[in-house]
Amino acid sequence: MKGIILSGGTATRLFPLTATTSKQLLPVYNRQMIFYPLNTLIKAGIKDILIIVSPEHSGQYLNLLGSIFKKYGVNLYFEVQKLPRGLAEAFILGESFIDKDDVTMVLGDNIFEDDFSQEIKNFKSGGHVFAKKVSDPERFGVVKFDENNKAIEVVEKPVDWLSDYAVTGLYIYDNRVVEVAKNAVPSERGEIEITSLQNFYLQKGELQVSIVEGEWLDAGTFDSLLEAGNIVKNKKIYKKFDPIIDRAIEEFNAELKALAKKRLG
Ligand code: G1P
Repeated sequence: MKGIILSGGTATRLFPLTATTSKQLLPVYNRQMIFYPLNTLIKAGIKDILIIVSPEHSGQYLNLLGSIFKKYGVNLYFEVQKLPRGLAEAFILGESFIDKDDVTMVLGDNIFEDDFSQEIKNFKSGGHVFAKKVSDPERFGVVKFDENNKAIEVVEKPVDWLSDYAVTGLYIYDNRVVEVAKNAVPSERGEIEITSLQNFYLQKGELQVSIVEGEWLDAGTFDSLLEAGNIVKNKKIYKKFDPIIDRAIEEFNAELKALAKKRLG
């Protein structure tokens, strides 16, 4: 299983914060946002992770993450997305990285309280996505269930109410996803929608949808960014990180402190 974190985009709703850095490098309580999706993948034992970033922020990602996980056997790779052309483009940009494997993708601004390691480790084939009940489904990809809780329809940002269940930014797909993404037709907004991947697997009867029990936070506006930090602090989500991440951050902090001391003479 390979991992991808899609961390590009211009995040105009967070201007001027994102005039100087990437949204996913902004702090959520005591660490940068990118550590949350990294945690989702590392907790599941994924060893190879591709981080897709926009060109203007690539240096900052390297400065922060560089090779901090290498001694723990976790390899990070970087790919630049020049223009955001939709979430499904990640599988095209990541084609050679994915190679013949299955892949789990997390959006760089998605913070989950739940641990999905079992679902990721037990994945066999098809597609597996995760839904959460929300009060504003029109903002998301939405999934409709029948009376037996079987997913029957997935629609991107439905104008007419379909269901209250949003498809969150965590996706597990088998290797076919690369070809499906390549063949996807761009939507009206000119993007290759992730929902078209859901529909491919749904039509084949191979899309599994699980419900997210714990918090699901995205941090795309000032209010939701602040709220995400508060929830992470109050629910102590920052204490539930994989030890690899905690250790790597501690070591990086020690390195920064030593360097600062040297500079001060
Ligand atoms: C994207 C997806 C949508 C999904 C959402 C989750 O929306 O297109 O299906 O529900 O992420 O955060 P976007 O953030 O691009 O509007």
